[in-house]
Amino acid sequence: MSQVWNEGYVTEVGYTYGYYRETSPVYQRFCLLLRGLACNDLNAASAHCELGFGQGVSVNINAASNPGRFVATDFNPAHAAHARGMASHSGCDLRIHDDSFEQLLARDDLPEFDSISMHGIWSWVSRDNHRIIAKFAARHLRPGGSLYISYNCFPGWAPAYPLRQLFALHDRYASVSPGAVQRIDAALKFSGALLAAGPLFARATTGLDERLKQISGQKRDYLAHEYFNRDWNCMYFTDVADALAEAKLEFATTADPLDVVDTINLTAEGIAFLNAIEHPILREQVRDYFVNRQFRKDLYLRGVRRLSAAEQREQTLASRLVLTRQVDAIPMVVNTAQGAATLHDGIFRPLLDELAARDYAPKSFSDLLRALPAVSLPQLVMASAVLVGADHAAPCQAEPVVQQVRMRCDALNRHLLERARTRDDVNHLASPVMGGGIAANRFEQLFLLARSQGCDQPAEWARVTWRLLTDLGETVVKDGKGLETPEENLAELTARATAFANDRVPILRAVGII
Ligand SMILES: C[S@@+](CC[C@H](N)C(=O)[O-])C[C@H]1O[C@@H](n2cnc3c(N)ncnc32)[C@H](O)[C@@H]1O
Repeated sequence: MSQVWNEGYVTEVGYTYGYYRETSPVYQRFCLLLRGLACNDLNAASAHCELGFGQGVSVNINAASNPGRFVATDFNPAHAAHARGMASHSGCDLRIHDDSFEQLLARDDLPEFDSISMHGIWSWVSRDNHRIIAKFAARHLRPGGSLYISYNCFPGWAPAYPLRQLFALHDRYASVSPGAVQRIDAALKFSGALLAAGPLFARATTGLDERLKQISGQKRDYLAHEYFNRDWNCMYFTDVADALAEAKLEFATTADPLDVVDTINLTAEGIAFLNAIEHPILREQVRDYFVNRQFRKDLYLRGVRRLSAAEQREQTLASRLVLTRQVDAIPMVVNTAQGAATLHDGIFRPLLDELAARDYAPKSFSDLLRALPAVSLPQLVMASAVLVGADHAAPCQAEPVVQQVRMRCDALNRHLLERARTRDDVNHLASPVMGGGIAANRFEQLFLLARSQGCDQPAEWARVTWRLLTDLGETVVKDGKGLETPEENLAELTARATAFANDRVPILRAVGII
């Protein structure tokens, strides 16, 4: 392998500060249970690992909000320093390394893990690293443990693959600027000019202009990592399944619960075609053709254990669900591979109302079944897959676990609220109920900060926030324009604080943030 530590990976631009729920053990357990698959118990003896954690927001939130120990690596020392800084506030059991995957593999001080997660890694590292990751899982994933992996895939990427190649080639042979952002802009401009010059390739491939326009509108730090690394391995599902088979890993299920619901993703003809395919790997691969998939989020298991129907029913009835969005803000349509699908009023309306009842308190499937006698358990499970898949709801952990992790989440959230005074980057907080993160933008965090300092009313949250912005020389941006007068700023902040109090505070209380 290369002597240079970054192995051709972009390091001059730091990564973004996202939270990815698929890395949460509670979320992974929910996805597996939907398919009737067992996972290892999640408790204080559990251990979890994240490979390539970026700024470490996901692993910090997961480590604060779940029992057990966490280990994570990212070879960018600036990322590791950031993630460690965050971990120092929560008191969670999180060990952060700035090892490469190869160095982590060589360590002899690691536990067996119940889950290994990698979000946005596989497509952007070399084939050597694929082998190292598979070896790492072979050595360190406990039998019964899960591996979460996401990656760019074919056939969805096939038409636009040459675009990424153009970016990389321009960067390699024609870029004159030393700055990453300028190099990206130059590559995008070059590609736009090429498409405008009418090459036959562009005529043979529809939608390229639109794709380039969409890419050009994305943040440059994201684009740097997404398209400008030396390695960019877009693969078929079956290629990844083969690469992981060496580690005794077997494909278990999608980590996108919406995908589990065939009727909203496939036509009747597609369902019939897929049902006629016996081998599960071939079926899953062919499904990607039907939905023209370009990005996969998958869960693999080291040892697939199928629950009996009675076990699955029992575990489902005991699991809990919480809404992550106010009920009036949930549209009765979801976006799927086939376009917008309308949610069945007879099932979703009463379910949403029941989930919103008693101040949005989490409800077990057993509670829901009792409260909604006209809806069957399989209907409830499918509806929950849709709601969780669309990010309107989240699976929860058991109440005793919630109590166990609450203080750590409070400590991390206090730090994140303080941080929002001077930065607008981490837009999630740690939920002890969900065992994961929930979205909260900077202003929402500043309102919560004011609230934690004893201000009761939204108007006060707005005043405190406006005072802070004034000190920093900032103003509120509305519709892309900075508001000018103090009156305009205060009025806008008051409106946002009032909406936050009505729409988000009940949810944040239900998920244990306040
Ligand atoms: C696209 S980013 C994804 C970050 C994070 N998982 C997320 O989704 O926010 C990939 C990350 O992997 C790290 N990385 C790439 N190659 C690596 C290697 N060989 N060893 C360790 N970390 C690596 C990079 O520094 C970067 O932070």
